[in-house]
Amino acid sequence: MQRLQKVIAHAGIASRRKAEEYITQGRVKVNGEVVKELGVQVAKKDQVEVDQVPIYQEEPVYFMFYKPRGVISAASDDKNRTVVTDYFTEVKERIYPVGRLDYNTSGLLLLTNDGDFSQKLMHPKYEIDKVYIAKVSGIATNKKLSPLSKKMHIEGKTLAPAKFEILSSDKKAQTSIVQLTIHEGRNHQVKNMLKACGFPVEKLKRERYGHLTLENLQVGKYRELNKNDVNRLIEETKIK
Ligand code: URA
Repeated sequence: MQRLQKVIAHAGIASRRKAEEYITQGRVKVNGEVVKELGVQVAKKDQVEVDQVPIYQEEPVYFMFYKPRGVISAASDDKNRTVVTDYFTEVKERIYPVGRLDYNTSGLLLLTNDGDFSQKLMHPKYEIDKVYIAKVSGIATNKKLSPLSKKMHIEGKTLAPAKFEILSSDKKAQTSIVQLTIHEGRNHQVKNMLKACGFPVEKLKRERYGHLTLENLQVGKYRELNKNDVNRLIEETKIK
C-alpha cells in the first residue's frame, strides 16, 4: 500500500505537493470515487485516475545514461528526432529525463519515472553539484575566468558562484579545456557563464552528477541505479 499522493508523484505526473493539490481540488478518483482526503492508502490493484486519465502504478526505476551529442533530452519529439528514451527500448516503464542537457552536449543524464525524486533533484535551492568539462575558444586564465567564482548576472538572472579549474590550453589551436562545477541547472548555464567571460564553448560534456560519474559507461549506454545510489542522491540534495 502507498499513499495516494506518492502514487501520483511516482507516475511522473506531478511533484508530491502538486499531487496533493490535485487531490484536494477533487481531480483524483480511486476506483471511480473522488478522493479529496490526503494520505489515503492505495494498493496496486486500485485504479487511480487524475482528470479522468488512468495512472499505471509502476515500480519506480532510476537510470544514469551517457547521452551522446545530437540527441534531445526528452521522452518524445514532435519532429521525430532522436530522443534519450530511444536508447531505452528494453525498459517498459515510462521514464523521462531529470532536467536536460542541450542537444549538442554529451554526458551524464538521469532518467526515472519517479516524479517526486525528479522534482527534488531539480529544485533550485537544493540542486546537486554537477561537473562539466568545456572546450572553449581562446586561452583561458584564472584572472579572465574569475567572474565565475562570484555571483553572475546573465539575462536578468543571478547565478550562484561556480568552481572552476583550467585543465589545459592549446596555444596553436587557441582553445582551452575548463572544468566547471555548478549546482543550479538553468538553460545553457555553463555556455552562458563561459561566454560572459569571453570564452565561447565549442564542446560540452557533463562528467559528474553528485557522486555519480561516467566511469565504466560508454556513450549511448545506461545503467540502472541501485537503492544506495538513489538514497545518496537524495542525501546530496540536503547538503547545501
Ligand atoms: N549548461 C549548458 O550550457 N548546457 C548544458 O547542456 C548543460 C549545462
